[in-house]
Amino acid sequence: MPAMRRGVPRVVARPNTQSIRDEVLRGLHAEPKTLPPKLFYDAVGAELFEQICELPEYYLTRAELEILHARAGEIAELAGPRVALLEYGSGAGVKIRLLLDALESPAAYVPIDVSREQLARVSTELAAEYPRVAVRPLNADYTLPLAVPTLPEGSRRVAFFPGSTIGNFHPMEAAVFLGRVRRAVGKDGALILGADRCKSAAVLNAAYDDAAGVTAKFNLNMLTRLNHDVGARFDVSNFQHRAFFNSRASRVEMHLVSKEAQIVRVGGDFIDFEKGESIWTESSYKYDRARLEELIETAGFRIRKLWTNSKRQFWVAYLDAA
Ligand code: AVI
Repeated sequence: MPAMRRGVPRVVARPNTQSIRDEVLRGLHAEPKTLPPKLFYDAVGAELFEQICELPEYYLTRAELEILHARAGEIAELAGPRVALLEYGSGAGVKIRLLLDALESPAAYVPIDVSREQLARVSTELAAEYPRVAVRPLNADYTLPLAVPTLPEGSRRVAFFPGSTIGNFHPMEAAVFLGRVRRAVGKDGALILGADRCKSAAVLNAAYDDAAGVTAKFNLNMLTRLNHDVGARFDVSNFQHRAFFNSRASRVEMHLVSKEAQIVRVGGDFIDFEKGESIWTESSYKYDRARLEELIETAGFRIRKLWTNSKRQFWVAYLDAA
């Protein structure tokens, strides 16, 4: 079946509500209670995340954009002509334009994202802006194995995984995930990876608990989303955002803390909360060079180039399949 109808890319493969409900209930019955960070990104969450990227405390996006601006030409030389770009977690589509503008005759762009609305909007915009690039959106949970759509013949696969989203995987899962990306790009493929660097607790705590309270809204929106999408009955005002740097594990943790003892109905189940008990919603791992290299090698890639920004806050790596 064609992936384009009258110039509008067709979004394929929607995640289903039943499997989300099962995953939510598994997490809420676990010890400690957890919810997966991919649930942040409904339409409201995706919009809040865009606001986070503009916050003065959230340095990550600016640092990565500085590197991509400075290195787009080098990246294009390393990647060569007729690249098929596979972007895992495409979001608002800002960074990809830098690459599409720099690359020599890019052949295809496959944005992969769970947020269906944003994916459809961004794909339509990009298809109009880059009429020579075959845009093939995939509405999927990229943390699970997925089938890459058919790509133009003779194109070389280069994956793009920016934004430090690799930090949202626990290190073992990160290696498994990047191993899957390695298989998706094949032995001639490459990966452009963005990862956040280790830094002081003060900077990290502020980045994940901003003064304007946008990150708190983003975290709490997960409960509102579950109320709409899986029939949960969370009283959102009974929970509070908490974020802190866990230096031993080299990660920022985000939690939703129950302000009081309560029982919440989720689907057909009842979930007990003690006062002060939390749902762990996200980990954001920070990488020093040695840990990053170890991860990359374990996943079957080799570093061609490793760049950082002027304030040495963030990594962008160009990796070849090993
Ligand atoms: C998408 N991800 C890399 C962000 C991060 O920094 O871990 C999500 C986020 N959570 C709170 N603020 C931003």
